[in-house]
Amino acid sequence: MAKLDIAHAVQTLRAAAAPNGESIILHEPRFAGAEWEYVKDCLDTGWVSSVGAYVDRFEKELAEAFGVRRAVATVNGTAALHIALMLAGVKQGDEVLVPALTFAATANAVAYCGAIPHFVDSNMETLGLDPDALDTWLAEIAEPGEDGPRNRNTGRRLAAVVPMHTFGHPMAIDRLVEVSEKWGIPVVEDAAESLGSLSNGRPLGARGLIGITSFNGNKIITTGGGGAILTNDEHLGDRAKYLTTTAKRPHRWAFWHDELGYNYRLPNINAALGCAQLQQLPVFVAAKRRLATRYQDAFAKVEGLRFFVEPAGSQSNYWLNSVILDDAGARDDFLAATNDAGLMTRPCWTLMCDLPMYEGNPSMPLPVARDIEQRLVSIPSSAVLALN
Ligand SMILES: Cc1ncc(COP(=O)(O)O)c(C=O)c1O
Repeated sequence: MAKLDIAHAVQTLRAAAAPNGESIILHEPRFAGAEWEYVKDCLDTGWVSSVGAYVDRFEKELAEAFGVRRAVATVNGTAALHIALMLAGVKQGDEVLVPALTFAATANAVAYCGAIPHFVDSNMETLGLDPDALDTWLAEIAEPGEDGPRNRNTGRRLAAVVPMHTFGHPMAIDRLVEVSEKWGIPVVEDAAESLGSLSNGRPLGARGLIGITSFNGNKIITTGGGGAILTNDEHLGDRAKYLTTTAKRPHRWAFWHDELGYNYRLPNINAALGCAQLQQLPVFVAAKRRLATRYQDAFAKVEGLRFFVEPAGSQSNYWLNSVILDDAGARDDFLAATNDAGLMTRPCWTLMCDLPMYEGNPSMPLPVARDIEQRLVSIPSSAVLALN
């Protein structure tokens, strides 16, 4: 294990990201397209709220960008995941397989359904859920039930699996779909971070039954807050639209809601931002990939850490760049030195199994997720750092 020279690592990061000495944050949005024009149009016409032409247009353009039949815009990615899990059939008392290493929303949406997150280990090459480790784990704990496989230790149904593409890097989704088909467990894909990424040449989001994305302010494109449900199944697309728009049946004047619905709509004013941002996606992805190459070259000369590169067979949007330190013991000193130097860095998420609300949840052994949690540091990744 090579020792990390922290001053040298900070200098390298400074030279690659912000050579003029300015302070930089982890990820900043950029509004350099038609944002003002489209938002002004909403204000001028009064179409600022739950319905409007920009919502319809954004949904159509999103479906193209994600290579899916249907995209339903929502108020945020967490709400999208809540509905996607419901549409996959997740019910009170079920278990849902989720990576232990993810943002809290992935597990929280499972809990909103009254279901129990069951934690799965990660893969060091992708940072995402490890499908082979999951397959081995299921062979140990799953048994057939009337309505799908069950966890033999808890008796609960294993209702879905939720892979997530960490920091935009594609996890092994094709292999996971194979494993999920083998076990009869539907895939609900959390593609919150991976718009613009490709796995085996295809976009991510709905390789399984259904998926979601996010347009939070820190994502590769933003609507301020927002998200979308993605699916190739027209029926699920219709159900997603209906459930996220209060389950109201169309009528000229009557308020007839024939199911418990949700007000999870993306307002037109946010969708207007989204239309303008989506036009700039190719520019953002190109800039981020340039920045990643710059980091890769620069950190190749630093001992004691490695820059994380996209998994084989994939093209990452490099939404959030990261380095993996050889020595977990150096992490906090590296975090302190970079932040002191005005270069914002952050550790990985705390593993879900360590959060108080998920302590004691079912889990497979998590050696890889734990290792990543202890050694990974995210570094500044805004597209603006590498625009041409
Ligand atoms: C992996 C992951 N899942 C879900 C979400 C939830 O998205 P939102 O913040 O739009 O609710 C996010 C981002 O915030 C995320 O990074």
